[in-house]
Amino acid sequence: YQTIIEPFRIHSVEPIPMTTVAERSDAIRDAHYNLFQLPARKVMIDLLTDSGTGAMSRDQWAAIQHGDESYAGSPSWEIFESAVHDLFGCAHIIPTHQGRAAERILFALLGGPSKIVPANTHFDTTRANVEYTGAKAIDLLCSEGLDPELDAPFKGNIDVAALANLLEHNASDVPAVVLTITNNSGGGQPVSMANIRATSELCRRFDVPLYLDSCRFAENAWFIRQREPGYATKSVTEIVHEMYSWADGMTMSAKKDPMANIGGWLATNDELLAERARTMLILTEGFPTYGGLAGRDLEAIAQGLQEAVSHDYLQYRIASTGYLGNALDAMGFPVVRPSGGHAIYLDARRLLPQIPPLEYPGQALAVALYELGGIRGCEIGTVMFGRAPDGSEHPSALELVRLAIPRRTYTQSHIDYVVEVCENVLQVAPSLRGYRITKEPPTLRHFTAQFEPL
Ligand code: F0G
Repeated sequence: YQTIIEPFRIHSVEPIPMTTVAERSDAIRDAHYNLFQLPARKVMIDLLTDSGTGAMSRDQWAAIQHGDESYAGSPSWEIFESAVHDLFGCAHIIPTHQGRAAERILFALLGGPSKIVPANTHFDTTRANVEYTGAKAIDLLCSEGLDPELDAPFKGNIDVAALANLLEHNASDVPAVVLTITNNSGGGQPVSMANIRATSELCRRFDVPLYLDSCRFAENAWFIRQREPGYATKSVTEIVHEMYSWADGMTMSAKKDPMANIGGWLATNDELLAERARTMLILTEGFPTYGGLAGRDLEAIAQGLQEAVSHDYLQYRIASTGYLGNALDAMGFPVVRPSGGHAIYLDARRLLPQIPPLEYPGQALAVALYELGGIRGCEIGTVMFGRAPDGSEHPSALELVRLAIPRRTYTQSHIDYVVEVCENVLQVAPSLRGYRITKEPPTLRHFTAQFEPL
């Protein structure tokens, strides 16, 4: 059958407040045209992020009841640690309240002025945590990944030749290499096992550790199973084991594939680093058997990890994201090809050629989706990446709007509605205008910047 059915029934529901175009025009003006500043009750379909917004399962809520809040050595910690260890195999697991706390600890220990941290593409919090230490975060995405129209199976791959060149000249300045799987800022595109292996072999030759920024590890493994020769008959768990056999450590946001509303961890095989990380953890997050989390959160993550690698779930997850991407592609709406795992990325540069990059075409598209349909997406372009640490402003390589799909949250009719709104946006696109920024903070400006329509 063609119809993708959700492999779950709905057990408890949340209301969606309905709003009109006029109400939304007022709301977005009051939010200074920044979608992060909107009250969520004014949003109908919230595709701002897939982070912490998924629906937990019956078994996760049951696990929450089983949570034990002992300060030290809680049984919930043991359940969490063995779930993480069984899947990823890292020797030392350090729980944190979310992904960026793990990044902050890792790069505080590895970073510093004169250091260079290469990645396929750094996610914005990773880049900010690297740069905060004075180190340089550089992106070495493969050339296919830079072409939004090209259909290729593994557009998240790092450019291994460019990495080899960097390591040959500067290995002593490189404290770690990062692979973001899937590559969130580059269209949610996967990294192949061959690329992970080649990166790992290169890193080992130069004695540089490889860390996987692992938020969407299960989606990445599913793409490997579907697209990479030799993996079609392997289980996702087996594929994950192989992926992590090539890594020296990982950072994780449990708010994505691990299906929790909060949580994360840093894991490493480096005992010395782990010891120093635990000392920092106590300073800012908590005792090493809970990090920044409650015991019940640790249990929800442990259960979520089992559900994340379910083939029925991943089949539905990747097919339903593709359903949105294919519908938009069919109507001629410019999107990044192929569809990502957790999100569809609209190409604002191609849709709005009349708006120059420094007038933020992505922001214009995101505001239009909200005004016309109550859909909240996220600009991933010059607003997010345009301001360099030295204060200068440059156009981003791509001008995208991400429609991130929360896990197990929206049904196919919600997505059909999104498609209909996009059809409307496509029609009015030639009349859309750009924005200027009236106020912005020194870093991570997209969260709080204020805009004015031109
Ligand atoms: N790495 C990647 C690839 C991410 O996508 C995120 C978060 C993080 C690290 C940080 O994790 O939020 O738990 O601190 N991404 C969210 C998003 C915010 O919307 O894509 P966190």
